[in-house]
Amino acid sequence: MAKSSNLNISVAIITGSAGLIGSESVAFFTSKFDYVVGIDNDLRKYFFGVDSSTNWNRERLQKEFTNYVHKNLDIRKLEDMEIVFQEYGESIKLIVHTAAQPSHEWAAREPTTDFSVNALGTLNILEMCRRYCPSSVFIFTSTNKVYGDNPNLLPIYETETRWEVDPNHAFAVNGIDETMSIDQTKHSLFGASKVAADILVQEYGKYFGIRTGVFRGGCLTGPNHSGAQLHGFLSYLMKCTIKGELYTIFGYKGKQVRDNIHSFDLVTMFWHFYQNPHIGEVYNVGGGQNANCSVLEAIKLCEEITGNILNYEYDNRNRDADHIWYISDVSKFKRHYPQWNYTYNLKQILTEIYLSMTQRLPSTK
Ligand SMILES: NC(=O)c1ccc[n+]([C@@H]2O[C@H](COP(=O)([O-])OP(=O)(O)OC[C@H]3O[C@@H](n4cnc5c(N)ncnc54)[C@H](O)[C@@H]3O)[C@@H](O)[C@H]2O)c1
Repeated sequence: MAKSSNLNISVAIITGSAGLIGSESVAFFTSKFDYVVGIDNDLRKYFFGVDSSTNWNRERLQKEFTNYVHKNLDIRKLEDMEIVFQEYGESIKLIVHTAAQPSHEWAAREPTTDFSVNALGTLNILEMCRRYCPSSVFIFTSTNKVYGDNPNLLPIYETETRWEVDPNHAFAVNGIDETMSIDQTKHSLFGASKVAADILVQEYGKYFGIRTGVFRGGCLTGPNHSGAQLHGFLSYLMKCTIKGELYTIFGYKGKQVRDNIHSFDLVTMFWHFYQNPHIGEVYNVGGGQNANCSVLEAIKLCEEITGNILNYEYDNRNRDADHIWYISDVSKFKRHYPQWNYTYNLKQILTEIYLSMTQRLPSTK
């Protein structure tokens, strides 16, 4: 394959390319750029075990997309990143940085590993961008955990299947917007390492003028998630419903509310941002009012779709720094990019996860 910063080719770099958002980005951007270069060393297997390895997805991408180039490298190793960025240089037009340690519970086990991947790894990629391709667009997948447990201070009330926010509160209609404070709150170690990365990405925009954008995700989901108990809510729930494995609900009576966005809808947001970037901007992104559910409601939907009854237990200890009610207000993004809209609702998301899982795990049918 021809590749040199001297040639007139366009390249997108995707970190975490075998993961949920990374792989969706590869699938989308291989039709927009000459080459997509993915960086992923399957660290997810180290975090969550063999069942959550993203190797199967890397193999799929390598088979399906002839202009996809995989680099089995660690974003923490600056010298390795340097080789990749030097190789493609100014041909790099877009960087989508999704590689991460994504679980707040796992982060407490190895805070230094978590911080080195999430914060230092992000700084490494930003620096590579600044040195080798400063006119590229840099997209970062941040998280709603940057708000710590501030969302849990909202006035809520209980309904039969979920918690709801007091209708008189400003966030009740559209969800939580970017004005929520990220300060003076318990973030979890994961939230703290992501805050560091989130601020760095904003800073490379505001200080250096790099065309960066921060996307603070609610629950990001889709058929290519390698769901684990510690990460990948709907994917893991569907896996348990299909395979008959025991699922544990942690706290809040199972009425905690999450909003869920399909990875495809998130990647089309990236595409809109790429074409007209608002430098250093921050967006809350998630299913918003289009697709949200409590754990109990999600279980019901999974049972309807699979025809199985989920085997679950309830543990009344909620996860540390877990949100009781979180719905992302995506109106700022919609205001900046009015052409964008959702293409998946919750039932469509879960049905797609189900169909792909039963194909991927035929023995579980
Ligand atoms: N999935 C969600 O619900 C969610 C919600 C909010 C934010 N996010 C953020 O979105 C991003 C993508 O999430 P995802 O669900 O696609 O995660 P994922 O775990 O499916 O994908 C991440 C990929 O990065 C790779 N990786 C991890 N550390 C690496 C390293 N040091 N070097 C190279 N590769 C490495 C992993 O092997 C994995 O394939 C993450 O930054 C995550 O924090 C995810």
